[in-house]
Amino acid sequence: MEIEIVPLDPATLKTAPTSDFGFGTNFANRMFTQNYTKGEGWHSAKIGPYENLSLPPSTAVLHYSQEIFEGLKAYRRPDGNINLFRPWENMKRFNNSAMRMAMPAVDPEEHLTAIAQLVEIEHDWVPTAEGSSLYIRPAMIATDAALGVYSSHTYLHFVIVCPVGAYFAAGFNPISVFISDSYRRAVKGGVGATKTGGNYSASLFVSEQVKEQGYSQVLWLDAIEGKYIEEVGAMNICFVYEGKKIVTPPLTGSILPGITRMSVLELGRDLGYEVSEERTSIDDILADIESGKITEVFGCGTAAVIAPVGKFGYADKEYTINDYQVGDVSKHLYDELTGIQYGRIPDRFGWTYTIEVE
Ligand code: PLP
Ligand code: COI
Repeated sequence: MEIEIVPLDPATLKTAPTSDFGFGTNFANRMFTQNYTKGEGWHSAKIGPYENLSLPPSTAVLHYSQEIFEGLKAYRRPDGNINLFRPWENMKRFNNSAMRMAMPAVDPEEHLTAIAQLVEIEHDWVPTAEGSSLYIRPAMIATDAALGVYSSHTYLHFVIVCPVGAYFAAGFNPISVFISDSYRRAVKGGVGATKTGGNYSASLFVSEQVKEQGYSQVLWLDAIEGKYIEEVGAMNICFVYEGKKIVTPPLTGSILPGITRMSVLELGRDLGYEVSEERTSIDDILADIESGKITEVFGCGTAAVIAPVGKFGYADKEYTINDYQVGDVSKHLYDELTGIQYGRIPDRFGWTYTIEVE
C-alpha cells in the first residue's frame, strides 16, 4: 500500500492541547483514509487533513449501520518515544468485525503501518500529562448511496486520533454501575462480540435513564435467561474473590473479546493471582458481595483502563463493594498494566510496539 501524505498549510494547523482533554472531542490535524470498491479492492490510501466527510443522505451506513470500529491508544514513554499496546490484536478484531458485518477485510500489516505513520506524523499530539494518551479510532463505513438492504459495494476506512484523559470523570476512582434487569444488550449468534456501532446505540436508552441516578455504566446480563453476567457498556468486568482470585465471564459469543481483559488474565496469572473464566449468575455475585467473599470488582477496557466498581444497583437495591474504595488488586493491576503501556516497566510479554520519535 502506497500512502499519499497530503501536505497541509502550516498556518491552518491547530496546536495540540496539553491539559483538559476530555474524551474524544479534540482531534489532531490529520487522518488516514482509504476507499474500497468491489472488484478493485482498497485504494486511494492517504494521510490528509482531518475534515468533514461528504456523504449523500442515502448513504448505506446512515440507514442500516453497516459500520465497525476499533479503539487503541498511543502512550508517551519516559524516553519520549511512543508505545502502542497490542495493536496486532486490534487489527485482528477489526477484521473479525468486518467479516461479521459482511465488510471487506483490511490487510492487518498495512492497517498497522497506516496507524503508526499517522501517530508518527502527529506525535506532538501524544500527551505527556499523567494518565493521558492519544486515543486512536479506526473505523469502516458502508458508503453505497442506495436504500436497498444489501452488503455495500463501496466502503471508507478511516483512522482519527485525539488526546484523551480519563474516560470516567472520577478518574482512577470507583464508579457506580447499574445492572439492567429488563433490557438486554446482545444475544449469542448476534453481533455482541463485534465492535459495531449498533451495540452502543442499543444501550443508550438504559444508560441515559440510570445516569440521572448517578450510575456511570450499565452491566448487562445474558439475553436468554437474564441470569448470567456478561459485560459493561464500554468494558469487560472482573470480580476479585478474597483478594486472590480474579474471575471474568467466558467469551460465549455475545460479549466483546476485550484486549485489556485478555491482558488482565495473562498479567494476573503472571503476578500470582488465580485467574478464571467462569459463567457466574447475578444471584451468586450479589450474595458473594453481601457476604464479603467478593472483595473487589473492576471493569477493564482501553478507554476505561482498570475501573474499580464501588457500587452496583440492581432491582431497587444497592450493593456497595469494598466500602467504595479502590482495592489493592485493582491498584496492583492498574500499576502493572499502565507501567507496561507507558514503558515505565519492562515489557516482559512483547505487548508493545514502539514508535521512535526522539
Ligand atoms: N466491551 C465493550 C462493549 C467495549 O466497548 C470495550 C471497549 O473497547 C471493551 C469491552 C473492552 O475492550 P478492549 O479492552 O479491547 O478495549
Ligand atoms: C474503547 O475502550 O476503546 C471503547 O471503544 C469504549 C468506548 C469509548 C466505546
